Amino acid sequence: MRAAAALLVLLPGLAMGQEGRAVFEARCASCHAMEAGAPPGPGPNLAGLAGRRVGGDQAFGYSPALEAARAEGRTWDSALLERFLSDPDAMFPGLWMGENGLREAGDRAAVARFLTGPTAPR
Ligand code: HEC
Repeated sequence: MRAAAALLVLLPGLAMGQEGRAVFEARCASCHAMEAGAPPGPGPNLAGLAGRRVGGDQAFGYSPALEAARAEGRTWDSALLERFLSDPDAMFPGLWMGENGLREAGDRAAVARFLTGPTAPR
């Protein structure tokens, strides 16, 4: 019973993670690596994003906009990520990520879950 209940809690999360992976691969992976220790590409590596400082990939040279956010000590979580992806430039004016947010709220939630949830790459 317990295991069944745990599965019921876990499965929708896993499904969201898979959906998020598909969106990530289509819309983000061309610029962002997400395997721990992989070198950054055109954008920073996003492995271990949950709880990581904004601007926290030490191998990546960020814009002044993200350097300033880093100095404020902000950290990523799923809520911040969803808000960021709805309009990245509005959150960090001068960002170098351009118009690469996600228009659909469902896509934003799925990608946030994929990048910060229990099955996220560390
Ligand atoms: C065309 C390349 C490109 C695409 C596509 C792209 N990004 Fe980015 N992303 C960047 C760059 C470049 C930065 C660093 C921006 C800066 O320094 O201002 C960045 C920064 C970020 C950050 C902040 C990371 C940190 O270390 O604080 C997150 C989170 C992020 N992107 C998520 C995403 C997600 C999720 C997607 C897909 C929906 C995506 N990006 C699509 C280029 C891209």
